[in-house]
Amino acid sequence: MSREELAVVLDYGAQYTQLIARRIREKNVYCEILPHTTDAEKLKALSPGAIILSGGPQSVYAEGAPGIDPKIFELGVPVLGICYGMQLMVKELGGEVRKGDSGEYGKSVINIEQDKHSDELVPIFEGLPQKQNVWMSHRDIVESVPSGFRVAALTESSYKAAIYHPEKNFYGIQFHLEVKHTEYGEDVLDRFLFNVANFSGSWTMDSYVESMVSKIYKEAGDKKAVCGISGGVDSSVAALLVHQALGDNLTCIFVNHGLLRKNEPEEVLQTLRDEYNMKVIYVDAVDRFLNKLKGVVDPEKKRKIIGEEFIRVFEEEANKIGDIDFLVQGTIYTDVIESGTDSASVIKSHHNVGGLPEKMELSLLEPLTSLFKDEVRKVAKELKMPDELAWRHPFPGPGLAIRVLGEVNEEKLEILREADYILIDEVRKADLYNDIWQLFAVLPGVKSVGVKGDERSYEHTVAIRAVNSQDGMTADWYRFPYEVLEKISHRIVNEVQGINRVVYDITSKPPGTIEWE
Ligand code: XMP
Repeated sequence: MSREELAVVLDYGAQYTQLIARRIREKNVYCEILPHTTDAEKLKALSPGAIILSGGPQSVYAEGAPGIDPKIFELGVPVLGICYGMQLMVKELGGEVRKGDSGEYGKSVINIEQDKHSDELVPIFEGLPQKQNVWMSHRDIVESVPSGFRVAALTESSYKAAIYHPEKNFYGIQFHLEVKHTEYGEDVLDRFLFNVANFSGSWTMDSYVESMVSKIYKEAGDKKAVCGISGGVDSSVAALLVHQALGDNLTCIFVNHGLLRKNEPEEVLQTLRDEYNMKVIYVDAVDRFLNKLKGVVDPEKKRKIIGEEFIRVFEEEANKIGDIDFLVQGTIYTDVIESGTDSASVIKSHHNVGGLPEKMELSLLEPLTSLFKDEVRKVAKELKMPDELAWRHPFPGPGLAIRVLGEVNEEKLEILREADYILIDEVRKADLYNDIWQLFAVLPGVKSVGVKGDERSYEHTVAIRAVNSQDGMTADWYRFPYEVLEKISHRIVNEVQGINRVVYDITSKPPGTIEWE
């Protein structure tokens, strides 16, 4: 990949920052997100073809508001400032930003201004309608533009919605082009990337694999690493990437924490050892985890305990191998954002991010933190991973512990495992598994009265959760054909000892989350 094929997003803390990077990668331009503190020197060394300043929650005049190294504007690289990024550019280059009379949140309409200085259209709006629906989220507005800048679009209330400097190729837009509600967002991005920044659009996931493997090689070189394997696509892809870079210096550690699905430990071991020829150590830590979880009902506590215990097991195994420097994890972007970044608030501490103990003996090697789930699957395809593994539904690190609500014990786990197995089996038989993004059973800890034979029963209720989603950030419940639900329910109550009732969860995310804990 030539260096000019790199677009850099400087992160000012918006929830949408990763979405910008993803949209750019969808256009076959490689994109990396760097902290807003990155200076011109470092950027120059990377030699990007474009710099994008993301949105952010602050006002540019607020105390401690994130700034920018002014020398970045002297690099001769096209810059696109989005929302906060535009306001920062305006302030930094001598224009004026002020608090608006009222904020603008949600749908808005902009009018593209004809360039008064030439017959040409503003390059990022070329060929697009004069009136466009966009999505805004801001309070501050640009009062006056810095010298050399022109106004490219106005809102209906005559605020500056887009500005640009034609000679320097600096663009500022007040709206969010990365969200789908902005009608021509993708087209504006296209024009910025290909007409203004002149990217070739030749980057692919294949080049991602290549550059990630060489990056890992550079960072970890001849050092030794261990990888925590769960059998899911994320940790497997992370392991395969690191394996390509480090070869036998990578040892995979598969911890059976007793919170896995039926037959999972056996399947995982077989796949890794036989299909990939990887070095895999199997650790039976079932009793250890279940003892630690005794009496614990708080979901966040469960996550922290499991996260901490995982790391401890890894450390112990790594110490046995000796001279290990890195711990490889399959953390993906959704895990990072939902555990809270500097600006986003904590939703759940996923075991492999927020749940990490503060003191760790190993450094983390996480090659997938900038990717969304569907992007990881594209990498999996490049790595020739069998579809069955690449398309396996996501499974949370804390496993069944967050699907047994309240205290976890072996008896409840066993009931849940059996119900979950039947559920997946029936869905596969109905050929619906690949239509669903995530599917599982939950044991809510509710017992109810039923009748089996002529006898009254008082047994567990099991809930079924099936959702569709693109990246786990939002989700909708799956519309099952009734006859499939009927088969699932019939088999579960007949075959699983301890369950006499099956319910179906019809909640979307938000307001629900996908998991129940
Ligand atoms: P929620 O429940 O937050 O789940 O809507 C979104 C996605 O993340 C998975 N998930 C986790 N994954 N550790 C993980 O590795 C966790 O602690 C965790 N909690 C939720 C969940 O299965 C879904 O795919």
